[in-house]
Amino acid sequence: MPVASRTQVGIVGAGPAGLLLSHLLALAGVDSVVVENRSRAYCEARQRAGLLEAGTVELLRSVGLGERLDAEGLEHDGIYLQFLGERHHLDFRALTGGRWVTVYAQTEIVKDLIAARLAAGGAIEFSCTDVAVSDVTSDQPLLSYVDSSGVAHEVTCDVIAGCDGFHGVCRPLIPGLTISERNYPYAWLGILANAAPSTDELIYSRHADGFALYSMRSPEVSRLYLQVAPDEPLDQWPDERIWAELQKRFATGGAWSVSEGEITDKSVTAMRSFVAAPMRHGRLFLAGDAAHIVPPTGAKGLNLALSDVVLLANALRALFKDGSWELADAYSGTCLQRVWRCTHFSWWMTSMLHVAPDADAFESQLMLSQLGYVTSSRAAAQSLAENYTGYQPVRFEL
Ligand code: FAD
Ligand code: PHB
Repeated sequence: MPVASRTQVGIVGAGPAGLLLSHLLALAGVDSVVVENRSRAYCEARQRAGLLEAGTVELLRSVGLGERLDAEGLEHDGIYLQFLGERHHLDFRALTGGRWVTVYAQTEIVKDLIAARLAAGGAIEFSCTDVAVSDVTSDQPLLSYVDSSGVAHEVTCDVIAGCDGFHGVCRPLIPGLTISERNYPYAWLGILANAAPSTDELIYSRHADGFALYSMRSPEVSRLYLQVAPDEPLDQWPDERIWAELQKRFATGGAWSVSEGEITDKSVTAMRSFVAAPMRHGRLFLAGDAAHIVPPTGAKGLNLALSDVVLLANALRALFKDGSWELADAYSGTCLQRVWRCTHFSWWMTSMLHVAPDADAFESQLMLSQLGYVTSSRAAAQSLAENYTGYQPVRFEL
């Protein structure tokens, strides 16, 4: 017989979305259980996002998660856009009246969240198998799993939050989903290197041979990406080839170069836009990558996931504290407005900066013209800056 228990919110997935939801619910006096199929070490080491919108930073600070972020995060006032061998600076603070972005790795947010939940006595079950959700249209949906010691559990919940990422088990439980999707004809080869960044801010570079992004993790560690083919075999990319390609795609004709160092991580990520609607069925709510994916060029995925979670936490607080379904009923529609804004921005940045394998001279000229426009028109630059630093940030209501 499975071990039976109950909680108010059963959360599937201990990524940034599931963990933050559990943290916010605890602050609102709502209890939850987080069930994750990977180990804690795996969740804390998974290399992904690096860039936080100003509103995301303000949110994390306001809920007691700002200490290490403030000590170790790198505040950036803008970005560089490079094309035709020339680098142009966009000053976000000046363009947006004070907004900025912060480089702080997703790995660190996940570590901070896990530490905060465990210190507060929160329940996170790592390394589970057979995770399943059922009865989501009843008043008592069920979350079942087998824990890391092989013991089966059944948790009766009031609500289930599907925060289990793109390949999770929750999204397929919503009948009649409308899926909107784009697969891009390129991927990103990402590296992490022990090399002091030779740039103060991120560089997004469009080069005739493909896009490259210069990001960082700390004053000692660089994070760099190269546009490659979607099926690119990693073994075709020895370190020397990666550095040579990066030097070429970031070259401006001067003495400046990318600083090189030991490569400690190397991976290829597909580029995709994906939106599933609605994000709720009965008492099952989706949040983050479980419901939508954006290509990483706009640095939106993590920020979007955390915005969903704030809206969901507000809705669940109203439900459990005031008995009101109003915000819960509005949840999917409210989220999807932001999701589509970010989907457009991410698609636009991606199309403008990458070189599609089938692009003709006409398309390339259009993209170069657009880059010329955003680096010469204040109005166009303001629009990019507003979207990049976070349009209409959400607030957690305590
Ligand atoms: P996830 O992080 O995918 O977490 C889902 C969790 O659910 C995982 O821990 C998974 O193991 C678990 N899970 C899955 N299935 C099950 C199951 N059956 N049972 C239990 N648990 C399950 N975003 C930005 O905002 N800025 C950036 O700069 C940025 N850069 C990126 C760069 C790269 C290379 C990539 C790949 C992504 C980037 N993103 C960026 C996107 C960002 O990483 C994601 O949007 C973010 O991880 C979403 O968080 P999540 O919690 O919704 O999903
Ligand atoms: C990163 O630092 O990993 C990063 C930064 C900006 C992006 C994507 C990824 O647009």
